[in-house]
Amino acid sequence: MDKQIRLDKYISESTGDSRSKSRQWIKKKRVKVSGLPVTDPGYKITPGRDEVCLDGIPLEYNCHHYLMLHKPAGVISARSSDQGETVLDLVLGQDYQENVFSPTVYRDVFPVGRLDKDTEGLLLMTDDGDLAHKLLSPRKHVEKCYFVLLDGPVGEEESRTFREGLDIGDEKMTMPAGIRPATEEEAGSHQPDQLSGYGAIVTLKEGRYHQVKRMARAVGREVVYLKRISMGSLVLDPCLKPGQCRPLTHEEVELLKENNS
Ligand code: URA
Repeated sequence: MDKQIRLDKYISESTGDSRSKSRQWIKKKRVKVSGLPVTDPGYKITPGRDEVCLDGIPLEYNCHHYLMLHKPAGVISARSSDQGETVLDLVLGQDYQENVFSPTVYRDVFPVGRLDKDTEGLLLMTDDGDLAHKLLSPRKHVEKCYFVLLDGPVGEEESRTFREGLDIGDEKMTMPAGIRPATEEEAGSHQPDQLSGYGAIVTLKEGRYHQVKRMARAVGREVVYLKRISMGSLVLDPCLKPGQCRPLTHEEVELLKENNS
């Protein structure tokens, strides 16, 4: 027989809120099971078979969570640190007004890869260890795209060197990578007003420590500003301000999984 659980437990675990809050919602008839209001908190639910909705929003049980964070500069890509604010602090401090979930539902998420403290941009946060492992696997060569401001221009010479691979002091040369001047539109979208420099787009298929900065230095340039704009199929949502995050859409999750299965 399929495992059954109490309705209040189901709601509490899928929203991250307390059992007593769940009971209040049930009492106020805000909860429906397979289309019908249920007012008994002990009502038995079969996860996967019964559809439980709170205010019309389907609640999923035992599922993974996926968030897209626009990491601001100054925040550490870790779950905890004694060195300052972390990306998990941002996630848990967020106001998820448009849905009913308490941020505690995201308590187990971790950053998929790291951005330096002074780097901004796209950071995927999830509690799905399998997907994270695949996205980070050196064998998968998941493409990461960065907008970068440099202290000098890049041209054919730099593009060729990035393509051919560079010695940045590691055991191995870097894998073929891309660098090209940013278009006006890209600079308009990503360049902070207060900074000046030469905008470029860098594309990497690996994720070594300080890789963009070290590759730029190897061709005689310093990075003034760095922002990740995509990772595989996932693109930073332009509506997210630095420090904000949102759950991935169903399509975004499916695409990431499909491309990395
Ligand atoms: N490359 C860097 O140098 N820093 C980052 O944060 C990401 C890629």
